[in-house]
Amino acid sequence: MTYTLQDFAKEAQRIVDRGDSAERAIAAIAGPLERIISRPDCLTDLPDRDDPDPDEGFMIHRSDNLTINAVVWAPESGAPVHNHNGWAMEGVISGIELNRNFDRTDDGSRPWFATLEERAPTRVEAGETTFLPEPPSDIHAVEIRHGKTVAIHVYGLDLFRQWRYRFDLDTGKVEPFGMRTRPRA
Ligand SMILES: [Fe+2]
Repeated sequence: MTYTLQDFAKEAQRIVDRGDSAERAIAAIAGPLERIISRPDCLTDLPDRDDPDPDEGFMIHRSDNLTINAVVWAPESGAPVHNHNGWAMEGVISGIELNRNFDRTDDGSRPWFATLEERAPTRVEAGETTFLPEPPSDIHAVEIRHGKTVAIHVYGLDLFRQWRYRFDLDTGKVEPFGMRTRPRA
């Protein structure tokens, strides 16, 4: 039987409801995420989503401890440096998602200011998954350099209820943002 997006959402929700550590939740969801993105047409599984290639992403599943989004990146697009407030996973259905990863190096004592140090980037190709660890190592930027990219993102929290932060690498300025303003990933 086909493993559907609804099956994946149910399975991921069951896993996070165990209340395990982020590491264990990530390890348990990796297989199911790989399984669902191995079907390039999986985004058509939701009854009101019969267009497999929308210009904008959409929400697949949302609860207090889990958000699953279909993310559609235009060619040469991306997201500025930002955080998530929790762990996240990405599974790429088509295209290539490049994550630039950062550690925070200041002590947080200066309001609306941060210094960041860049770690090795993560390149996620179609059929591959990756994860972004918990804070303070959840700071990253996305770069899309190889054409339109479609991915499923999984967050271990209700992403729509977060105030998150955007970081300016040049000035060190930190700015809050919500889900109505970009980046939405
Ligand atoms: Fe993100």
